[in-house]
Amino acid sequence: MAHIAVFGANGNIGSRIVREALDRGHHVVAVVRDPDSFVASRDAVTVTTGDVLSPDSVAAVGEDVDVVVSAVGGKDGPGHLATIRPAAEALVAGLRSLGGEAPRLVFVGGAGSLRRPDGSRVWDTEGLPEAILQIMHAHGDALEYLRGVEDVRWTNVSPAATIEPGARTGTYRVGKDDLVVDADGNSRISMEDYAVAVLDEIENPRHVRERFTVGD
Ligand SMILES: NC(=O)c1ccc[n+]([C@@H]2O[C@H](COP(=O)([O-])OP(=O)(O)OC[C@H]3O[C@@H](n4cnc5c(N)ncnc54)[C@H](OP(=O)(O)O)[C@@H]3O)[C@@H](O)[C@H]2O)c1
Repeated sequence: MAHIAVFGANGNIGSRIVREALDRGHHVVAVVRDPDSFVASRDAVTVTTGDVLSPDSVAAVGEDVDVVVSAVGGKDGPGHLATIRPAAEALVAGLRSLGGEAPRLVFVGGAGSLRRPDGSRVWDTEGLPEAILQIMHAHGDALEYLRGVEDVRWTNVSPAATIEPGARTGTYRVGKDDLVVDADGNSRISMEDYAVAVLDEIENPRHVRERFTVGD
C-alpha cells in the first residue's frame, strides 16, 4: 500500500485518481483548498488543506507520503492558466526541500505538445479556441520546466486529445511524445482509464523523469 497525496482531489480527473487509488487499497490524502467542499466517500481518505502554488504547503503534504499527484488547473480561465507552470515549479521546490526521501511527483499534463501522426503538434490544429491554445501552451511550458529537473522524480502524464468521464475498461495504450490515436485518427481516453494508467505508473514506475501519454 502506498500513501498518495492528490492535489486537485475534488476535480474531474483528480477525483477519479482518488477513487482508483482507494479501490486498489492505497491510502489517499485528498488535498483541497476548502475541506468542507470535499465529500469523503471512504474512511481511507485523509482530507487536508493545501495550496499547490506554495512550496511550503507542498512540503508539508509531501512529508508523509510516497507520491504526490497534481491534478490541478480547472476551467476558471486565467486562474487555470496561472496555475499550471507555477504549480509545477512550486511542487518541485516543495519536494526538493524534502531532500533524498522526497516522494515522487505525478503531474497531470496536457495533450497540446504531443505529435500527431503527420508530425504536427496537437496545438497546431487549425481552429482551436484561443483559451484552449493558451492552456495547451501552459502545459507545454510546465513540461519543459519539468524536463530540466533532475533531482525530483517527476512523471508527466498527458491525456489523449479528448478526456471525458466514461467507463473504466482497465485497458489503454501508451505513447511517449506521440498522440495515441485509433484507426480513425481519434484520440480519446476516459477519465476512469486515465486514472488506471496513473495508478499503474505509481505502482510500477516506468516513466520516471519522462512524459508519457495514454489513449484508448
Ligand atoms: N486533453 C487534455 O490535455 C486535458 C483535458 C482536460 C484536462 N486537462 C488538464 O488536467 C488538469 C485537471 O483538469 P480537471 O478537468 O480535472 O480540472 P477541474 O475539475 O477544474 O479540477 C481542478 C482542481 O484544481 C484544484 N486547484 C486549482 N488551483 C489550486 C491550488 N492553487 N491549490 C490546490 N488545488 C488547486 C481545484 O481545487 P478546488 O476544488 O479547491 O477548486 C480543483 O479541484 C488540468 O491541468 C487540465 O488542464 C488536460
